[in-house]
Amino acid sequence: MDLQIKSFEEYQRIYQYSVEKPEEFWAEIAEHFYWRRKWNKVLEWNFKEPNIKWFEGARLNITENCLDRHVYKLGDKPAIIWEPNDPNEAHRVLTYKQLLDKVEQFSNVLKNNGIRKGDRVCIYLPMVPELVIAVLACARIGAIHSVVFGGFSAQSIADRINDADCRLVITADGGFRGTKQIALKSIVDDALVQCKSVERVIVLTRTRTPVSMIKGRDVWWEDEIKKVETQGNPPCPAEEMNAEDLLFILYTSGSTGKPKGVVHTCAGYMVYTGYTFTNAFQYQPDEVYFCTADIGWITGHSYIIYGPLSQGATSLMFEGVPNWPDAGRLWDIVEKHKVNILYTAPTAIRSLMAAGDQYVEGKDLSTITKLGTVGEPINEEAWHWYDQKIGKGKAPIVDTWWQTETGGFLISPIAGVTPTVPGYAMLPLPGVQPILVDENGQEIEGNGVSGNLCIKYPWPGMIRTTYGDHERCRQTYFSVYENLYFTGDGCLRDENGYYRITGRVDDVLNVSGHRIGTAEVENAINMHSDVIESAVVGYPHPVKGQGIYAFVIASQHHTDEDLTRQDINQTVSRIIGAIAKPDKIQFVSGLPKTRSGKIMRRILRKIAEGDTSNLGDTTTLLDPAVVDEIKEGAEKLRG
Ligand code: WT7
Repeated sequence: MDLQIKSFEEYQRIYQYSVEKPEEFWAEIAEHFYWRRKWNKVLEWNFKEPNIKWFEGARLNITENCLDRHVYKLGDKPAIIWEPNDPNEAHRVLTYKQLLDKVEQFSNVLKNNGIRKGDRVCIYLPMVPELVIAVLACARIGAIHSVVFGGFSAQSIADRINDADCRLVITADGGFRGTKQIALKSIVDDALVQCKSVERVIVLTRTRTPVSMIKGRDVWWEDEIKKVETQGNPPCPAEEMNAEDLLFILYTSGSTGKPKGVVHTCAGYMVYTGYTFTNAFQYQPDEVYFCTADIGWITGHSYIIYGPLSQGATSLMFEGVPNWPDAGRLWDIVEKHKVNILYTAPTAIRSLMAAGDQYVEGKDLSTITKLGTVGEPINEEAWHWYDQKIGKGKAPIVDTWWQTETGGFLISPIAGVTPTVPGYAMLPLPGVQPILVDENGQEIEGNGVSGNLCIKYPWPGMIRTTYGDHERCRQTYFSVYENLYFTGDGCLRDENGYYRITGRVDDVLNVSGHRIGTAEVENAINMHSDVIESAVVGYPHPVKGQGIYAFVIASQHHTDEDLTRQDINQTVSRIIGAIAKPDKIQFVSGLPKTRSGKIMRRILRKIAEGDTSNLGDTTTLLDPAVVDEIKEGAEKLRG
């Protein structure tokens, strides 16, 4: 069986086969990868514990699949094209051969610094090629990487380092993002005050921001590379890993205050990201593929690094932001590097669309053959703009629905092969069995229906556990509905059987494609000494998709509302990061609570949306009068 599906009929046939004979199907797909030793059993599973094992008995290393196996035929092909933040700085190209060399070199750096198979390594780097090198070097020696997005605060880094007991941190002096410089090393220093497990910090030079190096703990990336060079640059053969050995941990927000470490393992994740990448984008041998995501999120892990590289693709990574020096930057990059496939987020599309068509006009986008979106539902207007202005009406758009926990795309068009409808993720990829259920877990059958989206059968890229707390994994994903993986998303299946994701049904927000838990933001706000209590909800935002709306009960001390708002924002930035700052803060004297003390978020959401015509039954509230006060306050805040 070829990896790429070439017609709708073939899709239907293979989908059917993948459901009827999933183990046979995935074994055939897995044959396209390089194994030191093949598996004994394709799949062992139950969703009760959960216990999920793919390709048991197999031995492999994902970097051999991403690098070594390509070098003979594709050694001089660009693996990574790096476009810097500043368009006047030179871009960089790393061929497959060069990338392998650099990964081996840095693998030896890790080993020289005492890192061994199974150790956890925290990576807090800007979007530079060394980030890819660091990730792959960890994977090569079997160390478990935990990449932390550069927008997170010292506190967030410390929490993640401590949860995973990381021994090493890899960071840089600083990072460039648009006109801003982020002092990454100094943030790491603040974090490490709380982290006993970290023995060493490797610091890459990027911005030449002054840093303080702690004796015995901190070393420079460049010095460590020189040491390996004086050792004669020995090769670093890949560590042979078991199929279910941990590959990485990536933290993501949920309904509680504490982010959880989603765990992915070697074999299944490799097969799944490679298969879904090549299919959804129908990657052709000479195409340049550009994913605008940050490697700090799952999209970067699966679809800048592992998926494209295992398929021998050219993956373009970008250090900067879409609107600097101006809103034409992405289109300049497409023109400069002759990009064929562009994969970005609805929030970026909306903001570039709002900047005006003058930034697109005159740019040569004729190389584009396929487009993708990810992270949140895309509105029809943005979809059509993307289709017309960027794809010139001839590039299929794949609206890929998936999650940190799913490892790769679950519901997505296959470019040019399966149909597309604006706002729809369309049909499940082979091996994926979605079902809709009602509140009681009853399956909702037929078409033209909505419900909570669950998956009833395992796929190779799925989450295995939440690091250090398997029970939390069970409770969050496998106990809401018996024998099903619960996604947390609401979903509609239309008359044609096409899926449309309608948004989260739990207390998780999606702000500019960033996933943020309402409880996390509330905890951060409540740290402010003048705050007694708070409740956070999402509301529709024209560019960000969702904005953050905080209802706050403040103590008597606070007199200047605006000052307190600024203070609260700063507290949230400190505790989580600037991405979680509320867009609106409304001071209230009380919150709508039931007699048992539960906050009625439904009411707050309606008020935040500006729709107060029908707030439903408020008579069960402890103090119904508070609702009118909040309504009035909200109107004042809107002005
Ligand atoms: C949540 C997962 C998966 C990479 C980026 C986000 C929302 C994701 C889509 C889409 C509508 C989408 C869902 C999902 N989401 N893709 N194509 N259409 N919604 O990963 O941070 O794990 O967030 O993002 O609500 O549950 P994440």
